[in-house]
Amino acid sequence: MSEAILLDGVTRFYEVGDTTVHALDGVSLAIEEKSFTAIVGPSGSGKSTLMALIGCLDVPTSGRILIDGEDTSGMDDDELAYIRNRKIGFVFQHFSLLPKLSALDNVSLPLLYRGTGSRERREKAEEMLERVGLKDRMKHRPSELSGGQKQRVAIARALITEPAIILADEPTGALDSATGREVMDIFHSLHREGHTIVLVTHDQKLASECSRMIGIKDGRVEYDAS
Ligand SMILES: Nc1ncnc2c1ncn2[C@@H]1O[C@H](COP(=O)(O)OP(=O)(O)O)[C@@H](O)[C@H]1O
Ligand SMILES: [Mg+2]
Repeated sequence: MSEAILLDGVTRFYEVGDTTVHALDGVSLAIEEKSFTAIVGPSGSGKSTLMALIGCLDVPTSGRILIDGEDTSGMDDDELAYIRNRKIGFVFQHFSLLPKLSALDNVSLPLLYRGTGSRERREKAEEMLERVGLKDRMKHRPSELSGGQKQRVAIARALITEPAIILADEPTGALDSATGREVMDIFHSLHREGHTIVLVTHDQKLASECSRMIGIKDGRVEYDAS
């Protein structure tokens, strides 16, 4: 198997006033293609920083990140956006849906950025919503959906560009455990379909269902268990 994600000595420091926060402090990791990895660790340990870096939403202070074999160091914003749009789907804890748009329009948005025509956008968005079991909720706005339904819309939005890699930062953190279970089952089925998945979670039980668990503490890898 080859590596979907490779981090080599990655740091991310923030300057806050006259102190430096070492959010990530020398992380080297290889994440295999088609694997399902859980990232766990206390609040403030650097998990979201790590996900933002892998997702090309942010760039490291030092070190290298390779996505699908491509070195992202030195890429400009357009090049990073291109990688993000082609290879990565992001799912956040609080869904990050646009409140004024229907489920359908939220899901099709990444294709609008890509310049896809309206008919194809609509067809694909319908297909993705059907896949997450929301065919009958396409016209609903986020405020007319439950938490679990909102997260399923967000997953459909992440899938519409057919990304190989899905990054989910505490996707069940705002959901009750039964709804969280349903969302986790969607990630399991995406894993079976061949996606590479990296999931941040506080839930040890959900983490233990993944093929690998990486513990982060104080910006470093504390343990790495397969
Ligand atoms: N934009 C920022 N500016 C300054 N410090 C930040 C910023 N983002 C995160 N941090 C700090 O970096 C550390 C790691 O944060 P984060 O990656 O969000 O942790 P986690 O997701 O594990 O809770 C924390 O100490 C946090 O306060
Ligand atoms: Mg976080």
